[in-house]
Amino acid sequence: MPIRVLITGGAGFIGSNFIRYALDVRPEWQIVNFDLLTYAGNLANLEGIPENDKYRFLKGDVSNLDDVKKVFESGFEYVINFAAESHVDRSLYDPGLFIKTNILGTQLLLAQARQAGVQRFLQISTDEVYGSLGKDGLFCEDWPLKPNSPYSASKASADLMCRAYFETFGLPVIITRSSNNYGPYQFPEKLIPFFITKALNDEPLPLYGDGLNVRDWLYVEDNCAGIMAALEKGKPGECYNIGGGNEMTNLEITKFILQDLGKSEELIKFVKDRPGHDRRYALDISKAKSELGWRPVMDFREGLKKTIRWYLANEKWWRDILSGDYRGFYDIHYRERR
Ligand code: NAD
Ligand code: TYD
Repeated sequence: MPIRVLITGGAGFIGSNFIRYALDVRPEWQIVNFDLLTYAGNLANLEGIPENDKYRFLKGDVSNLDDVKKVFESGFEYVINFAAESHVDRSLYDPGLFIKTNILGTQLLLAQARQAGVQRFLQISTDEVYGSLGKDGLFCEDWPLKPNSPYSASKASADLMCRAYFETFGLPVIITRSSNNYGPYQFPEKLIPFFITKALNDEPLPLYGDGLNVRDWLYVEDNCAGIMAALEKGKPGECYNIGGGNEMTNLEITKFILQDLGKSEELIKFVKDRPGHDRRYALDISKAKSELGWRPVMDFREGLKKTIRWYLANEKWWRDILSGDYRGFYDIHYRERR
């Protein structure tokens, strides 16, 4: 029996990796990829995937009711909501857009999914909703939500709306909260691809503050497996942390990239810190392990080397992006960090 799946934001980094993964491991799926193709959405991320009864692309906006109603004219068993404005730095300049896409967009999808009677609604969330940790401890799923940036506040709000649709309307919503992803097709504004491409261009790598902020890195394919496990084995109304168990400082990652590419550490440029910069994220993933039977498998150093090789082999992909017209915001942002 075919399973009809609506994937929003499937032209972005994690969504496109998930579509490739799902077409491979779930041949019975019929996927509709609904994406606005913002600066971060790129059909080149899906190159080689033919449009047929297994996969179809539809351009549209999750925060536009008419667009959302239109996509729901066909029925779906599952909805997976990746669509979002996803970059913390951008949220400092235009919080309103984050509210529109991440909160209103999620609510419109929840409402249509409810009307359509979907079997599962999976919300892709983030560990950033929990706020920031000190040196010790791990976030577990019932940690209070204490987001610190407009981005994380918008994601936390969307999570709460998901909870309300489960509690009030019985919509079978499941939430995954993953740690920082890395891997192929990540837009070169996020730390790892930004620094790989900067280093390849022999340009300075702007490291915020003292460079000692810690993130818990997760290879994107491990996240795809976690999302599939949560969708198929998760319990409606529950959240699942999906983390890599790889805590690294930004400075360690930067040095690793430079060393791997044979570039000098003199390219590191310490710049003014990001306002509200969370110090540390780290996830307790025991719930996903015990209830979903999921665990990450990629070793961090191996995954990072593999990612660096991918950017070396796909230079046209990122050079096309870097020569595009999305740069205005970065010019202001990095001028302010000098
Ligand atoms: P991304 O920025 O690479 O992709 C986002 C996609 O959403 C793009 O294709 C974009 O065109 C689309 N989109 C944006 N606004 C839209 C709208 N109004 N209507 C329809 N489509 C729209 O993001 P990503 O890194 O792939 O993140 C995907 C999801 O995972 C997001 O919800 C993000 O919050 C979450 N997440 C990301 C990370 C990470 O490390 N990248 C970690 C945890 C959670
Ligand atoms: P980022 O990839 O933006 O993800 P997030 O803020 O969602 O965790 O940033 C990862 C870390 O890298 C974060 O601590 C901020 C830092 N960073 C820099 O030091 N310089 C940069 O130019 C960027 C983009 C990030």
